Amino acid sequence: MPVIKAIGVQYCTLQCPDLDIQEQFLLHFGMHTVEKTDDVLIMRGDGPQPFIEVCKKGEKKFLGATYVASSMEDLEKISKTDAFSDVEELKTPGGGYISRGKDLEGIGVDVCFGIKDRDDYQALVPQSSNEGGQINRINERKRYVKGAPPSIVRFGHYGINVNDIPAALEWYNEHLGIIATDKLYAGDPKNPDTPLMGIFARLDKGLEPADHHTIFWLPAMLSEGKPGLNHVSFEMLQIDDVLRGHEILQRNKEEFDYELEWGVGRHYQGAQVFDYWRSPFKQTHEHQTDGDYFDNTIPPNDVNVTEDGLESDGPGPSQWGPDINFDTFGDSRNG
Ligand SMILES: [Fe+2]
Repeated sequence: MPVIKAIGVQYCTLQCPDLDIQEQFLLHFGMHTVEKTDDVLIMRGDGPQPFIEVCKKGEKKFLGATYVASSMEDLEKISKTDAFSDVEELKTPGGGYISRGKDLEGIGVDVCFGIKDRDDYQALVPQSSNEGGQINRINERKRYVKGAPPSIVRFGHYGINVNDIPAALEWYNEHLGIIATDKLYAGDPKNPDTPLMGIFARLDKGLEPADHHTIFWLPAMLSEGKPGLNHVSFEMLQIDDVLRGHEILQRNKEEFDYELEWGVGRHYQGAQVFDYWRSPFKQTHEHQTDGDYFDNTIPPNDVNVTEDGLESDGPGPSQWGPDINFDTFGDSRNG
Protein backbone atom coordinates (compact mmCIF):
# COMPACT_ATOMS: atom_id res chain seq x y z
CA MET A 1 0.00 0.00 0.00
CA PRO A 2 1.38 3.44 -0.92
CA VAL A 3 1.92 5.91 1.91
CA ILE A 4 -0.35 8.37 0.09
CA LYS A 5 -1.90 8.77 -3.35
CA ALA A 6 -0.95 12.15 -4.80
CA ILE A 7 -3.75 13.85 -6.75
CA GLY A 8 -1.78 16.26 -8.91
CA VAL A 9 1.38 18.19 -9.57
CA GLN A 10 1.42 21.87 -8.67
CA TYR A 11 4.72 23.34 -9.93
CA CYS A 12 8.32 22.57 -10.79
CA THR A 13 11.46 24.14 -9.35
CA LEU A 14 14.56 24.81 -11.41
CA GLN A 15 17.80 26.53 -10.66
CA CYS A 16 19.57 28.71 -13.20
CA PRO A 17 22.28 31.36 -13.18
CA ASP A 18 20.40 34.42 -14.45
CA LEU A 19 16.81 35.13 -13.48
CA ASP A 20 16.38 38.02 -15.96
CA ILE A 21 17.21 35.71 -18.85
CA GLN A 22 14.97 32.96 -17.47
CA GLU A 23 12.10 35.40 -16.99
CA GLN A 24 12.33 36.61 -20.60
CA PHE A 25 12.30 33.02 -21.85
CA LEU A 26 9.29 32.10 -19.73
CA LEU A 27 7.43 35.24 -20.85
CA HIS A 28 7.96 34.24 -24.48
CA PHE A 29 6.95 30.69 -23.47
CA GLY A 30 3.60 32.03 -22.22
CA MET A 31 4.02 32.54 -18.46
CA HIS A 32 3.50 35.68 -16.36
CA THR A 33 5.75 37.03 -13.63
CA VAL A 34 4.33 36.74 -10.12
CA GLU A 35 7.36 37.63 -7.99
CA LYS A 36 11.00 38.30 -8.67
CA THR A 37 13.77 38.98 -6.20
CA ASP A 38 17.56 38.69 -6.53
CA ASP A 39 17.28 35.02 -5.55
CA VAL A 40 14.02 33.67 -6.85
CA LEU A 41 11.65 34.01 -9.79
CA ILE A 42 8.04 32.83 -9.52
CA MET A 43 5.96 32.44 -12.68
CA ARG A 44 2.35 31.50 -13.32
CA GLY A 45 0.29 30.33 -16.27
CA ASP A 46 -3.29 31.30 -17.09
CA GLY A 47 -4.83 28.54 -14.98
CA PRO A 48 -5.96 28.82 -11.36
CA GLN A 49 -2.61 27.95 -9.72
CA PRO A 50 -0.85 31.00 -8.25
CA PHE A 51 2.43 29.78 -9.81
CA ILE A 52 3.62 26.85 -11.90
CA GLU A 53 7.39 27.32 -12.12
CA VAL A 54 9.87 28.53 -9.53
CA CYS A 55 13.41 29.37 -10.56
CA LYS A 56 16.10 29.85 -7.95
CA LYS A 57 19.33 31.64 -8.75
CA GLY A 58 22.38 29.39 -8.87
CA GLU A 59 24.17 26.75 -10.84
CA LYS A 60 21.92 25.13 -13.46
CA LYS A 61 20.01 22.27 -11.86
CA PHE A 62 16.59 20.64 -11.64
CA LEU A 63 15.43 20.94 -8.03
CA GLY A 64 12.27 18.88 -8.42
CA ALA A 65 8.50 18.76 -8.77
CA THR A 66 5.84 19.43 -6.16
CA TYR A 67 2.99 16.94 -5.92
CA VAL A 68 -0.38 17.65 -4.31
CA ALA A 69 -1.67 15.63 -1.35
CA SER A 70 -5.41 15.09 -1.03
CA SER A 71 -5.53 16.20 2.63
CA MET A 72 -3.48 17.67 5.45
CA GLU A 73 -3.51 14.18 7.04
CA ASP A 74 -1.84 12.78 3.93
CA LEU A 75 0.77 15.53 3.98
CA GLU A 76 1.53 14.71 7.63
CA LYS A 77 1.69 11.05 6.73
CA ILE A 78 4.28 11.47 3.96
CA SER A 79 6.30 13.85 6.15
CA LYS A 80 6.78 11.02 8.65
CA THR A 81 8.62 8.83 6.11
CA ASP A 82 12.43 8.79 5.95
CA ALA A 83 12.70 10.48 2.56
CA PHE A 84 10.57 13.53 3.52
CA SER A 85 10.97 16.50 5.86
CA ASP A 86 8.63 17.82 8.53
CA VAL A 87 5.76 19.94 7.23
CA GLU A 88 6.60 23.62 6.75
CA GLU A 89 4.36 26.56 5.98
CA LEU A 90 4.88 27.94 2.48
CA LYS A 91 5.65 31.65 2.12
CA THR A 92 4.93 31.67 -1.62
CA PRO A 93 1.73 33.06 -3.23
CA GLY A 94 -1.33 31.06 -2.23
CA GLY A 95 0.21 29.91 1.07
CA GLY A 96 -0.23 26.26 2.00
CA TYR A 97 2.08 23.64 3.46
CA ILE A 98 4.91 21.50 2.13
CA SER A 99 7.02 18.48 2.98
CA ARG A 100 10.29 18.28 1.05
CA GLY A 101 11.84 15.04 -0.08
CA LYS A 102 14.39 13.40 -2.34
CA ASP A 103 13.97 10.28 -4.44
CA LEU A 104 16.45 7.39 -4.67
CA GLU A 105 18.68 9.28 -7.09
CA GLY A 106 18.61 12.58 -5.19
CA ILE A 107 16.02 14.36 -7.33
CA GLY A 108 13.65 16.63 -5.40
CA VAL A 109 10.10 15.42 -4.76
CA ASP A 110 8.01 17.74 -2.65
CA VAL A 111 4.41 17.29 -1.56
CA CYS A 112 2.12 20.23 -0.83
CA PHE A 113 -1.36 20.80 0.48
CA GLY A 114 -3.56 23.87 0.76
CA ILE A 115 -2.08 26.21 -1.85
CA LYS A 116 -4.98 28.50 -2.68
CA ASP A 117 -5.96 29.28 -6.25
CA ARG A 118 -5.36 32.85 -7.29
CA ASP A 119 -8.14 35.40 -6.69
CA ASP A 120 -7.84 36.96 -10.14
CA TYR A 121 -8.25 33.69 -12.05
CA GLN A 122 -10.65 34.00 -14.96
CA ALA A 123 -12.02 30.72 -16.23
CA LEU A 124 -10.08 29.52 -19.25
CA VAL A 125 -12.39 28.58 -22.07
CA PRO A 126 -11.00 27.09 -25.27
CA GLN A 127 -12.32 28.61 -28.49
CA SER A 128 -14.75 26.19 -30.07
CA SER A 129 -13.91 24.46 -33.34
CA ASN A 130 -15.83 23.70 -36.49
CA GLU A 131 -14.21 20.46 -37.56
CA GLY A 132 -15.40 17.30 -39.23
CA GLY A 133 -18.78 18.78 -40.00
CA GLN A 134 -19.51 19.45 -36.33
CA ILE A 135 -20.52 23.09 -36.18
CA ASN A 136 -19.81 24.40 -32.70
CA ARG A 137 -19.21 28.06 -33.56
CA ILE A 138 -21.92 29.98 -35.33
CA ASN A 139 -22.13 33.76 -35.85
CA GLU A 140 -18.88 34.09 -33.95
CA ARG A 141 -15.36 34.69 -35.24
CA LYS A 142 -12.36 32.69 -34.08
CA ARG A 143 -9.62 35.17 -33.22
CA TYR A 144 -6.19 35.06 -31.64
CA VAL A 145 -4.03 38.13 -31.22
CA LYS A 146 -1.09 37.83 -33.60
CA GLY A 147 2.16 37.57 -31.64
CA ALA A 148 0.43 37.35 -28.23
CA PRO A 149 1.81 34.72 -25.85
CA PRO A 150 0.01 31.36 -25.85
CA SER A 151 -2.23 30.30 -22.94
CA ILE A 152 -0.74 27.85 -20.47
CA VAL A 153 -3.23 25.92 -18.34
CA ARG A 154 -0.87 24.31 -15.82
CA PHE A 155 2.33 22.43 -15.09
CA GLY A 156 1.39 19.04 -16.52
CA HIS A 157 4.24 16.55 -16.16
CA TYR A 158 7.99 16.11 -16.20
CA GLY A 159 10.65 13.71 -17.39
CA ILE A 160 13.76 12.77 -15.46
CA ASN A 161 16.77 10.67 -16.41
CA VAL A 162 17.54 8.02 -13.79
CA ASN A 163 19.95 5.09 -13.47
CA ASP A 164 17.40 2.58 -12.17
CA ILE A 165 14.00 2.97 -13.83
CA PRO A 166 12.25 -0.03 -12.18
CA ALA A 167 13.48 1.11 -8.75
CA ALA A 168 12.16 4.61 -9.46
CA LEU A 169 8.70 3.23 -10.29
CA GLU A 170 8.71 1.21 -7.10
CA TRP A 171 9.76 4.19 -4.96
CA TYR A 172 7.24 6.62 -6.47
CA ASN A 173 4.52 3.98 -6.16
CA GLU A 174 5.36 3.29 -2.53
CA HIS A 175 5.43 6.97 -1.55
CA LEU A 176 2.93 8.66 -3.90
CA GLY A 177 0.81 5.86 -5.35
CA ILE A 178 2.11 6.43 -8.88
CA ILE A 179 1.34 3.62 -11.34
CA ALA A 180 2.88 2.64 -14.68
CA THR A 181 0.99 3.47 -17.87
CA ASP A 182 3.40 2.49 -20.65
CA LYS A 183 6.68 0.63 -20.30
CA LEU A 184 8.87 1.23 -23.33
CA TYR A 185 11.10 -1.52 -24.71
CA ALA A 186 13.55 -1.35 -27.60
CA GLY A 187 12.30 -4.65 -29.02
CA ASP A 188 10.13 -7.54 -27.90
CA PRO A 189 8.95 -6.84 -24.33
CA LYS A 190 8.64 -10.59 -23.70
CA ASN A 191 12.35 -11.15 -24.27
CA PRO A 192 14.12 -10.59 -20.92
CA ASP A 193 17.19 -9.23 -22.75
CA THR A 194 15.27 -6.36 -24.36
CA PRO A 195 16.41 -3.07 -22.85
CA LEU A 196 13.85 -0.95 -21.00
CA MET A 197 13.87 2.54 -22.55
CA GLY A 198 11.57 4.33 -20.14
CA ILE A 199 8.34 4.24 -18.18
CA PHE A 200 5.45 6.67 -18.41
CA ALA A 201 3.57 6.72 -15.11
CA ARG A 202 0.43 8.39 -13.83
CA LEU A 203 -1.39 9.28 -10.66
CA ASP A 204 -3.81 6.76 -9.20
CA LYS A 205 -7.00 8.78 -8.74
CA GLY A 206 -9.26 5.74 -8.67
CA LEU A 207 -11.98 6.01 -11.29
CA GLU A 208 -11.25 9.67 -11.85
CA PRO A 209 -9.27 10.00 -15.10
CA ALA A 210 -5.62 10.98 -14.73
CA ASP A 211 -3.13 12.28 -17.29
CA HIS A 212 -1.46 9.47 -19.25
CA HIS A 213 1.71 10.48 -17.42
CA THR A 214 2.70 12.84 -14.68
CA ILE A 215 6.24 11.53 -14.57
CA PHE A 216 8.41 9.90 -17.24
CA TRP A 217 11.62 8.10 -16.32
CA LEU A 218 14.25 7.81 -19.01
CA PRO A 219 17.67 6.17 -18.87
CA ALA A 220 20.45 8.28 -17.40
CA MET A 221 22.70 7.06 -20.21
CA LEU A 222 21.12 9.95 -22.17
CA SER A 223 22.97 12.30 -19.80
CA GLU A 224 26.23 10.33 -19.35
CA GLY A 225 24.86 8.45 -16.35
CA LYS A 226 23.99 11.62 -14.45
CA PRO A 227 20.43 11.68 -13.03
CA GLY A 228 18.59 14.92 -13.70
CA LEU A 229 16.12 16.81 -15.81
CA ASN A 230 14.87 15.52 -19.12
CA HIS A 231 12.11 18.10 -19.53
CA VAL A 232 9.34 19.98 -17.77
CA SER A 233 6.00 20.12 -19.53
CA PHE A 234 3.11 22.54 -19.53
CA GLU A 235 -0.41 21.91 -20.75
CA MET A 236 -1.62 24.47 -23.26
CA LEU A 237 -5.21 25.59 -23.63
CA GLN A 238 -5.58 24.16 -27.12
CA ILE A 239 -3.59 23.08 -30.14
CA ASP A 240 -3.47 26.65 -31.47
CA ASP A 241 -1.57 27.57 -28.29
CA VAL A 242 1.10 24.96 -28.98
CA LEU A 243 1.50 26.34 -32.51
CA ARG A 244 1.35 29.98 -31.39
CA GLY A 245 4.01 29.25 -28.79
CA HIS A 246 6.15 27.66 -31.47
CA GLU A 247 5.84 30.74 -33.65
CA ILE A 248 6.89 33.14 -30.88
CA LEU A 249 9.87 31.04 -29.77
CA GLN A 250 10.91 30.50 -33.38
CA ARG A 251 10.73 34.23 -34.07
CA ASN A 252 12.88 35.06 -31.03
CA LYS A 253 15.27 32.12 -31.03
CA GLU A 254 18.30 33.83 -32.57
CA GLU A 255 18.12 37.01 -30.54
CA PHE A 256 17.44 35.24 -27.24
CA ASP A 257 19.32 31.96 -27.80
CA TYR A 258 16.37 29.56 -27.73
CA GLU A 259 16.72 26.15 -29.30
CA LEU A 260 14.04 23.92 -30.78
CA GLU A 261 14.62 20.44 -29.38
CA TRP A 262 11.72 18.54 -31.02
CA GLY A 263 8.39 19.53 -32.50
CA VAL A 264 5.74 20.24 -33.45
CA GLY A 265 4.36 16.69 -33.56
CA ARG A 266 2.01 14.25 -31.89
CA HIS A 267 3.35 11.63 -29.49
CA TYR A 268 2.55 7.95 -29.66
CA GLN A 269 2.39 7.25 -25.91
CA GLY A 270 0.13 9.86 -24.34
CA ALA A 271 -0.88 11.25 -27.76
CA GLN A 272 -0.17 14.89 -26.88
CA VAL A 273 0.57 17.45 -29.55
CA PHE A 274 4.02 18.51 -28.37
CA ASP A 275 6.75 21.08 -28.92
CA TYR A 276 10.02 21.04 -26.93
CA TRP A 277 12.20 24.13 -26.54
CA ARG A 278 15.49 24.74 -24.76
CA SER A 279 15.83 27.87 -22.66
CA PRO A 280 19.07 29.86 -22.97
CA PHE A 281 20.31 27.57 -20.16
CA LYS A 282 19.31 24.54 -22.27
CA GLN A 283 16.70 23.31 -19.77
CA THR A 284 13.99 21.76 -21.96
CA HIS A 285 10.44 23.09 -21.61
CA GLU A 286 7.55 21.45 -23.43
CA HIS A 287 4.27 22.89 -24.65
CA GLN A 288 1.63 20.16 -25.05
CA THR A 289 -2.09 19.54 -25.15
CA ASP A 290 -4.78 16.99 -26.03
CA GLY A 291 -3.18 14.10 -24.13
CA ASP A 292 -4.78 10.76 -23.27
CA TYR A 293 -6.43 10.21 -19.88
CA PHE A 294 -6.77 6.90 -18.05
CA ASP A 295 -8.41 5.86 -14.80
CA ASN A 296 -6.77 3.27 -12.56
CA THR A 297 -8.52 0.28 -14.16
CA ILE A 298 -6.09 0.23 -17.09
CA PRO A 299 -3.11 -2.06 -16.42
CA PRO A 300 0.48 -1.20 -17.41
CA ASN A 301 1.08 -1.59 -21.11
CA ASP A 302 4.31 -3.03 -22.54
CA VAL A 303 5.27 -1.22 -25.74
CA ASN A 304 7.76 -2.27 -28.36
CA VAL A 305 8.79 1.20 -29.49
CA THR A 306 10.52 -0.15 -32.60
CA GLU A 307 7.05 -0.90 -33.96
CA ASP A 308 5.98 2.75 -33.69
CA GLY A 309 6.14 4.86 -36.80
CA LEU A 310 8.00 4.26 -40.01
CA GLU A 311 10.67 1.61 -40.20
CA SER A 312 13.13 4.22 -41.44
CA ASP A 313 12.70 6.45 -38.36
CA GLY A 314 14.10 4.29 -35.59
CA PRO A 315 12.35 3.98 -32.23
CA GLY A 316 10.17 6.67 -30.72
CA PRO A 317 9.15 8.86 -33.61
CA SER A 318 6.01 10.92 -33.53
CA GLN A 319 2.65 9.94 -35.06
CA TRP A 320 3.27 12.96 -37.23
CA GLY A 321 5.96 15.61 -37.04
CA PRO A 322 9.75 15.55 -37.14
CA ASP A 323 11.93 12.71 -35.82
CA ILE A 324 13.38 12.90 -32.36
CA ASN A 325 17.11 13.62 -32.19
CA PHE A 326 18.52 10.98 -29.84
CA ASP A 327 21.92 12.73 -29.83
CA THR A 328 20.43 15.68 -27.98
CA PHE A 329 17.07 14.74 -26.43
CA GLY A 330 17.52 14.53 -22.64
CA ASP A 331 21.27 15.19 -22.80
CA SER A 332 23.27 16.50 -19.86
CA ARG A 333 22.82 20.14 -20.93
CA ASN A 334 19.45 20.00 -19.11
CA GLY A 335 21.30 19.90 -15.78
FE1 LIG B 1 6.56 15.42 -22.10
